[in-house]
Amino acid sequence: MKESFRGDLLAGKTTLITGGGSGLGKAMALRMASLGAKVAVVGRRSEPLQQTVDEIAAAGGTAAWSSADVRDSAAVAAAFDAVEAKLGPVNQLVNNAAGNFLSASEDLSDNAFDAVVKIVLYGTFNATRELGRRLIARGAPGEVLSVVTTYVHTGSAFVLPSATAKAGVAAMMRSLAVEWAAYGIRLNCVAPGPFPTEGAFSRLLPGSEIEKQAKRRVPSRRFGEHHELTSLVAFLMSDASPYQTGDIVTIDGAEGLFSGQQFAGFAHLDRAMAKEMMAALKPKK
Ligand code: HXC
Repeated sequence: MKESFRGDLLAGKTTLITGGGSGLGKAMALRMASLGAKVAVVGRRSEPLQQTVDEIAAAGGTAAWSSADVRDSAAVAAAFDAVEAKLGPVNQLVNNAAGNFLSASEDLSDNAFDAVVKIVLYGTFNATRELGRRLIARGAPGEVLSVVTTYVHTGSAFVLPSATAKAGVAAMMRSLAVEWAAYGIRLNCVAPGPFPTEGAFSRLLPGSEIEKQAKRRVPSRRFGEHHELTSLVAFLMSDASPYQTGDIVTIDGAEGLFSGQQFAGFAHLDRAMAKEMMAALKPKK
């Protein structure tokens, strides 16, 4: 990938990324560090976090890690303390850590609902409140970005805990965008469509036939590439977007629109054939 941003786009930013040791969190950590941010990755397992930090350091960036389960607010506060001791004050947060799986809703146990809602909704609250408290105490501005999904707008069958929790996260970001504007804190969401990661795809798109069907829901018939998402994230977390707050920015290759448009299926027909068919329906003069 050829870098399209200036290498100092995120200079002066110190960004804590939850779930930053794998998947989209790791992709964001690497890209943001390459654009000049100091990056802290936080998650449950230390090995991938350490690996991410090593990769950033090998590329000439600055990074630190601390392990914490975002469901535990005291552990989140301790992780902020640990990375701030190494990197200095954190002024940005990416709420990326998530949990999800496919299940009929009537079969969900208490623990199953809890696991996802506590990671997604409580985890986002714990980390966002922690950063907010620190920024407000220091009188410093900052940015928060939460990764939601396109189904925050619609809900989704078979991923009820995730759909419920992500909608709550979107409401949280929008509420705080108003409440914390006075402190110079911006909060936004990105709503990605399908961007392949081991964590999400192994749980949600098991098997090549289901994956093929998922691709057919995207008009361009391809999944998103990580750099396409991290470009949007970098822009939203940079000083190039000072007036953007309280927003949910969709990045899904128009997958959501395709699914909602009654005649969208024609876009997948051979275009010459589709035109011929439509012309045949036109009344003759
Ligand atoms: C039904 C399940 C289940 C499944 C777990 N549980 N998997 N129930 N179907 N497939 C139940 C367990 O039986 C248990 O309930 C409860 O959930 C907690 O499970 P644990 O394994 O003890 O919890 P934990 O180790 O904390 O794991 C959390 C998790 C797991 C959410 C269940 O999947 C996880 O760690 N996920 C992290 C990574 C991830 O999910 N990434 C995908 C994010 S994708 P009982 O009653 O038995 O005790 C995303 C957006 C996707 O968010 C958008 C796509 C386009």
